[in-house]
Amino acid sequence: MSLLMAKKMGLSWLAAGEKDGRPREGKPLACGGRGLVLMEELGLLGLDEEGPAGRGKMVAELLGEGEDRGREDEHKRGEEDETKIQPWGETYYFRLAGKVSIITGGASGIGASAVQLFHENGAKVVLADIQDNLGQALAQKLGEDVCYIHCDVSNEDEVSNLVDATVKKHGKLDIMYNNAGILGRPLGSILDTPKSDLDRLISVNLVGCFLGAKHAARVMVNQGQGCILFTASACTAIGGLATPAYAVTKHGIVGLAKNLAAELGQYGIRVNCVSPYGVATPMYEGFSADTAPMIEESLEQMGNLKGKIPKVEDMARAALYLASDEANYVSGMNLVVDGGFSVVNPTMMKALYPAKL
Ligand SMILES: NC(=O)c1ccc[n+]([C@@H]2O[C@H](COP(=O)([O-])OP(=O)(O)OC[C@H]3O[C@@H](n4cnc5c(N)ncnc54)[C@H](O)[C@@H]3O)[C@@H](O)[C@H]2O)c1
Repeated sequence: MSLLMAKKMGLSWLAAGEKDGRPREGKPLACGGRGLVLMEELGLLGLDEEGPAGRGKMVAELLGEGEDRGREDEHKRGEEDETKIQPWGETYYFRLAGKVSIITGGASGIGASAVQLFHENGAKVVLADIQDNLGQALAQKLGEDVCYIHCDVSNEDEVSNLVDATVKKHGKLDIMYNNAGILGRPLGSILDTPKSDLDRLISVNLVGCFLGAKHAARVMVNQGQGCILFTASACTAIGGLATPAYAVTKHGIVGLAKNLAAELGQYGIRVNCVSPYGVATPMYEGFSADTAPMIEESLEQMGNLKGKIPKVEDMARAALYLASDEANYVSGMNLVVDGGFSVVNPTMMKALYPAKL
């Protein structure tokens, strides 16, 4: 329940979290159950003795079985046993409650961050990768709702097994996040690109995504719903950011996503891309805890958005949004997470603000 809604309902005591007509700084009265927890933390509900059940009753009374309750019921439909929704009607905090997801390339970097964030938001996660030790360690750390399956995304049998094993374990597949990828050479001209480099990049980055989408769609079409995500790259929005071979694979992914959004929309399946600008991850040759700050510094210098460093969590949060029901009507989109890098003309910026650049 928003502050505005609380006010509209004449619940002035709920608005006690504001000061001078504005929400108190650092004390967001968020929507849904988290907001209620915050209100309780702020001493606004005074329901300590009654606990969650008391809160649930109180909320139901306040809402008069109104719109928030309706949303809760809609959200919980068919997934009562699996959901992590709290009895008092949490709808936004666990944004993937009851959902089953696969994340490829989940052992490291952006994928590992997405595994954690999806798990925190109530999803059951199947982490797929070829780095068995890292993948198993992360799954073990996060507990029973996360498991690791070895899968080389360029191998169709392994991708097919991954999807089948997930459905066997959890009964369905809601989100297929095709994130695994390799960079190959960080720099280089088309003139000295061996065909073997191109083949390798295509087989992991593009064929891997194609196979992931194909086998996920096989299940999702029957379900009549699903979400397919890809990690592409900001190099799909501006030239010169990557090698030609890498750029080919990422442009291919965006083309694939658009085509699948068109083909699979009739089955209620959404298809989208997250396109990072640059993030310090082991994908970069020579990456280590020591070199990460240098990579980040150069990303910040090159970047458009100053005072911010792109992090794996920023990319994972974009994926979380696209995977969640908040993006219920979003499909065929390439969400470029680059702080505006790809839309700025640096020549113009130099002419306008020479002192700053
Ligand atoms: N880091 C960046 O700056 C950046 C920028 C744009 C796009 N991306 C994309 O983001 C995605 C994630 O990259 P990252 O930066 O987290 O790198 P990363 O190296 O940390 O993670 C990539 C993961 O993919 C796995 N992987 C590689 N080949 C695989 C295969 N054949 N089968 C299964 N798993 C495989 C790796 O083992 C690794 O765990 C990639 O698709 C990458 O192209 C990264």
